[in-house]
Amino acid sequence: MRTLITNIGELTTNDASGEDLCGTRHDAAVVIDGGRISWLGSSDAARSPEVHDAADDVIDADGRAMIPGFVDSHSHLVFAGDRAAEFEARMAGERYAAGGIRSTVAATRAASEDELRARLRRFVDELLAQGTTTVEIKSGYGLDVETEERLVRLAAEVTSEVTFLGAHVVPAEYAGRDEEYVELVTGRMLERCAPHAKWIDVFCESGAFTVAQSRRVLEAGIAQGLSPRVHASQLGPGDGVQLAVDLGAASIDHGTYLTDADVAALAGSDTVLTLLPGVEFSTRQPYPDARRLIDAGVTVALACDTNPGSSFTSSMPFCIAIAVRDMGMTPAEAVWAATAGGARALRRDDIGVIRPGARADLVLLDAPTRIHLAYRPGVPLVSRVWKDGIAVR
Ligand code: NIG
Ligand code: FE
Repeated sequence: MRTLITNIGELTTNDASGEDLCGTRHDAAVVIDGGRISWLGSSDAARSPEVHDAADDVIDADGRAMIPGFVDSHSHLVFAGDRAAEFEARMAGERYAAGGIRSTVAATRAASEDELRARLRRFVDELLAQGTTTVEIKSGYGLDVETEERLVRLAAEVTSEVTFLGAHVVPAEYAGRDEEYVELVTGRMLERCAPHAKWIDVFCESGAFTVAQSRRVLEAGIAQGLSPRVHASQLGPGDGVQLAVDLGAASIDHGTYLTDADVAALAGSDTVLTLLPGVEFSTRQPYPDARRLIDAGVTVALACDTNPGSSFTSSMPFCIAIAVRDMGMTPAEAVWAATAGGARALRRDDIGVIRPGARADLVLLDAPTRIHLAYRPGVPLVSRVWKDGIAVR
């Protein structure tokens, strides 16, 4: 089945050469064949019989903008319960603390597998409807061997980007025995979870795990064939960024509080910094200065961090709007970070880009340019979505 989409007013390919980060083409056309992009050119060239007549289906984009599907490289989508009251209290002046995670752990442990699966699938559909065609999903609301295994297994039903986050916080039953909990995470829990996961993650922050504990967790995961990524510098500065860079992590996520030394270490590394604007929005923390990072040469990704505590948005357009309005990113940088940047954070080169051979994960916007994603905040501009070449919306 070959589908030609033509008359695309602005095509963000992210297949860049030279000045234009987004590899922008105007009046463009693409062909989807099977799950991949098979051709890309001008609308004029698409009128030729070799392209036009070979298509089974022709879609007229009517001058609208197309971008790669969003790559959301940080989410916690498998959980039960809700923390709306905690959010309400925060909006009235309470501070966010990592401890709230334990209330979601209690609800998640109490939920059945079917209930967790049904909720997870609803979230994945919610993301797709907003243009997210790839999502990374973490465990971390089980914190016992059985439940963590269940969470990574369920996540693996819906994505290949599964992260084992047994080291999210120390669960209540291990209070005061955090070293014993680290033993469990790096031992039996890891053994059961690793077969379902690609990534190992740790929350390296005061109130969660120390740098030494985080290193043990990540190294144990690496020894089991997982690749590292790190939650760090969310609530204050710390040594998590340096640890991530030392271990060659694909990404360090949050980075709300970065020292100049952190920025320099990131700039000289292959580690992506994944910014999560939804967290600052819903915890009333200061937004990180993305301009400082990009100007220093750091590769930046944007992700939603969908979770019931610190950021319960699943909207990449919302995160793009914040990044442009409050974090100093240009619209082009923010769209790149939410697509190609996410792909880099997952060490993938087949997504976040529109070029022959890449996966046909595409979003058609109800707008003439990608700038509208920030210019029209809160407006549902995602009009059509293709995932692996299949029109899902
Ligand atoms: O990425 N930082 C740690 N974990 C989540 C928050 C989880 C929660 O509050 O439930 C995060 O923000
Ligand atoms: Fe997170």
